[in-house]
Amino acid sequence: MCTTDNSKQAASGAASRLARKNILELAPYRCARDDYSEGVLLDANENAFGPPTRPEHIKDPLERYPDPYQVPLKQKLAAHRGNELESSNIFVGVGSDEAIDLLMRIFCVPGKDKIMQTPPTYGMYKVCAKINDVEVVNVPLTADFDLIIPNILEAITPEAKLLFLCSPGNPTAKALPLADIEAVLQSPQTCDTIVVVDEAYVDFSTQGSAVGLVHRYPNVVVLQTLSKAFGLAAIRCGFCIGPPDIIQLMNNCKAPYNVNALTSELAIQAFDHVDVLDTNIASLLSERARVAASLAELDFVEKVYPSDANFLLFRVASHAQAVYKDMADQGGVVTRFRGTEMHCDECIRVTVGTPDENEAFLKALQTSYRALA
Ligand SMILES: Cc1ncc(COP(=O)(O)O)c(C=O)c1O
Repeated sequence: MCTTDNSKQAASGAASRLARKNILELAPYRCARDDYSEGVLLDANENAFGPPTRPEHIKDPLERYPDPYQVPLKQKLAAHRGNELESSNIFVGVGSDEAIDLLMRIFCVPGKDKIMQTPPTYGMYKVCAKINDVEVVNVPLTADFDLIIPNILEAITPEAKLLFLCSPGNPTAKALPLADIEAVLQSPQTCDTIVVVDEAYVDFSTQGSAVGLVHRYPNVVVLQTLSKAFGLAAIRCGFCIGPPDIIQLMNNCKAPYNVNALTSELAIQAFDHVDVLDTNIASLLSERARVAASLAELDFVEKVYPSDANFLLFRVASHAQAVYKDMADQGGVVTRFRGTEMHCDECIRVTVGTPDENEAFLKALQTSYRALA
C-alpha cells in the first residue's frame, strides 16, 4: 500500500519519482507580478489606456493580466468541497481538459510511457494521449460498467504513468464505488502510477467524491469542473485536486495566465449562490427520473442504464445510428450515438435538458424510430 500516512518517503516523492526529468528540472516562468502586484504597474507591457469598451457589470481591470494563481477562487472551491482542502491542493485550469493534457505532459515521456483507461470512457484521454504520442492501454469495464480490478492491476507496467478512472463515467453514467477506487490505490502495483479520478459529473451522484483520498494517497488526483452541475461550460473552468507536490508541478507547467479574469469573477460568484445550484441540480435530477421512466416505457427501448450523471444512456432494439441522425436532421434534437463504444451496441446518450427539451427529445425519438424500424 502506498499511503501518505504509511510512507513519508512515497508521500514526498510521488511527483518527484514519477514526473518526467525535464519537468522536474524546469525553472518555471516568473514575472514581476509574482513579487509585486500593486503600485504603478509598468512591468508587463499591458495597455493602461484600457480596452475599446468596458461593460459596466465587469469589475475586473480588463487591461491587466489576470491573477496567475487564482487563490480566492481556490479558497471558494476548498470551502465548497470541504475535506480540509488548501489552495496548495488545487490547480485551476481552462476546463478539466487542460488538467488532463497537463498531467500527460508532466508524467508521460512521449513515445515511451503509457496511460491506462477503462472503456467505455471519456474520449479526450485517448485524443490527448495521441497528441502527446503516449500509448493507451485499455482495461475494459464489465458489461455493467464496473471496474475489473485484477485486470487493471495485471495490466500495470512501469511505463503506465497515469490511470484514468471516470466516476460517474461518461458515457456509462455510473459512479464507481469509492471502495473500488480505494482498492486500486491500496494495491502495491499502483504505487508508481498516478490515479486520475475524473469527477466531472460528481454533483449529480449520491456516491460522494474521492477528494478525501488526496490526503491519504500521494498518487491520486481528482478532476472537477464548473461545466456540468454549475452550468458554466462557457467560461471554461476546471480543477485538479491533489497532493501539493503534483499540483505544484501543474502550476509550473501551465501557461502563466491560463485562467482569464472574467472566468474567475464568474466562478467566484457561482460559489456564492450554492442555494440556486442545489435547486438546479434537484430540478435536473427530477427530470432525469422522468425521462428515464418515459424511455423505459417505450417498446423499442431495450435498456435504460441507471444514471449518476446529467445524462442517460439507453439501448434501442436496432438502427441506433440512423435514429440518432434522423432525430438531429428531421427533429432538430441532437443526441450522441455511442454504439461504437465498448459494451454500448445500439446505444444513444442523451443529456437531460429542460422539461420542454426533454419532451422534444422523447417525441423525436419515437418519430425517428418508427420511421426507420
Ligand atoms: C468525463 C469528463 N471529463 C471532463 C470533461 C471536460 O470538462 P471541461 O469542460 O471541464 O473541460 C468532460 C466533458 O464532457 C467529461 O465528460
